[in-house]
Amino acid sequence: MRISSKITKAINDQIAYEASSIYAYLAIGSWCERTGYDGSAEFFFEQANEEHLHMLKFIHYLNNAGVETIIPATDKPQAKFDKLESTFQAGLRSEQTVTKLINNLVELAEKEKDRATYSFLQWFVSEQTEEETLFETILQKFEIVGRDKLAVYQIDQSLASIRSEIMSKDTQQQQQPSAN
Ligand SMILES: [Fe+2]
Ligand SMILES: [Fe+2]
Repeated sequence: MRISSKITKAINDQIAYEASSIYAYLAIGSWCERTGYDGSAEFFFEQANEEHLHMLKFIHYLNNAGVETIIPATDKPQAKFDKLESTFQAGLRSEQTVTKLINNLVELAEKEKDRATYSFLQWFVSEQTEEETLFETILQKFEIVGRDKLAVYQIDQSLASIRSEIMSKDTQQQQQPSAN
């Protein structure tokens, strides 16, 4: 399989972003664990695992295409937060950035008429919808449940079930036969 140098560079940039996402989520998880937000700590460590899987998918893709994969150094991530809600706001901002980057990659694949890369990227397109929905749903909980200590404690405790709810909805949608 042949992929262009532009696509190779864009995917290597994406590998770098996924790598920095791993460490960003590890740093957030670590802050949560230290602060006593155990549900959130577990949530962000799981996010870090997911980013690792994303990075690996891109690494395998370039290696299988026979082009050079660059494993990057990453900057030190943000490690201090003023409150739990800020960690999810940071997460949402990061996921929105990734969505833009993935969309740019899709556009580049279209421009280069690279069908293989285009179809490879479709998984990431749906994954980003799920990631943004997940963070939006959690942030919405702060609006609904509240921001006092007890409310934040309840949100922290409910994160695992929020994740599985979003993920099962996503699976159901994928299993529904399309209308056309
Ligand atoms: Fe990712
Ligand atoms: Fe993500």
